[in-house]
Amino acid sequence: MADLPRPRVRPRRLRRTAAIRALVRETSVDADRLVQPLFVREDSRTDPAIPSMPGISRLTIDEAASEAEELAALGIPAVILFGLPAEKDPLGHGAYDDRGVVPEAVRAIKSAAPDLVVMSDVCLCQYTDHGHCGVVRDGRIDNDASVELLAKTAVSQARAGADLVAPSAMMDGQVAAIRAALDREGLGETAILAYAAKHASAFYGPFREAADSVPRFSDRRTYQKDPANLRESLREIALDLEEGADIVMVKPALAYLDVIRAARERFDAPLAAYSVSGEYSLIKAAAERGWVDERSVVEETITAIRRAGADLILTYHAKDFARWRRGERG
Ligand code: PBG
Repeated sequence: MADLPRPRVRPRRLRRTAAIRALVRETSVDADRLVQPLFVREDSRTDPAIPSMPGISRLTIDEAASEAEELAALGIPAVILFGLPAEKDPLGHGAYDDRGVVPEAVRAIKSAAPDLVVMSDVCLCQYTDHGHCGVVRDGRIDNDASVELLAKTAVSQARAGADLVAPSAMMDGQVAAIRAALDREGLGETAILAYAAKHASAFYGPFREAADSVPRFSDRRTYQKDPANLRESLREIALDLEEGADIVMVKPALAYLDVIRAARERFDAPLAAYSVSGEYSLIKAAAERGWVDERSVVEETITAIRRAGADLILTYHAKDFARWRRGERG
């Protein structure tokens, strides 16, 4: 024993106590980096429960407003809204109706919690009867016709008071069109959070159950990008920045930490990551069975997404995270 070499460097010295570990911690996570997604239903008869997303429900506009107040009180700075319209049609009219569910929810939330940042998802898939994110023509998704409707959608949300609009349809040129439409309408202060590198992912499954937005034919691979490609993600981000995006986003998060890291290194714009519904469901399901400790796993994954380089994180765990932090401080 005595002959064995002694380590010259002992990293464990800085792991000895919680206070020392805190001093040298490289990545911090606070609730003020988190955005809580909210599903808002127009029809009060819609079932609120989302079986694959325990703890998340479809809220009425009034419920969304009081939830927003609660989130603000917990120190969550922002929400992102997803509308569930009473009716769907081929062109997704509910998306760009000034009296539609999202504009109404934005107004209700802004009056209940004026300081809360309100973001709104700009897409057609929750509003179209075929479930695609754009206009279908001859069995294909017509890019430019879709972009026109997306720009109208963004304007209706921004007029209602959304602070950031978040185009997620992955149509080419959508950010430039939205920027131009907002500016033309005197909405130059509304910022754009672009879902720039949005991958065609099976992790959106629970969201599509929540929004009843599974495509009725084919899939989203002609517009959402191939998960296998990293350079293409960087190219999409560069394009969205050129088109005027204020914040760019990578989505999903956990299976795409390398994309987040590469984007962080290449671009100086604020970078968001969306830890999507399927990521939430996996953790919830395992935690319900007692197979993992929910709080520890959530803290670890959010830390990992921050460490990879995300400035802000959209996550369904935001409220729980803020509550846990609150509890800690007593
Ligand atoms: C709308 C949209 C989707 C998500 C965010 N915006 C669904 C999709 O593209 O199918 C997914 C979010 C999640 O899974 O949590 N296009």
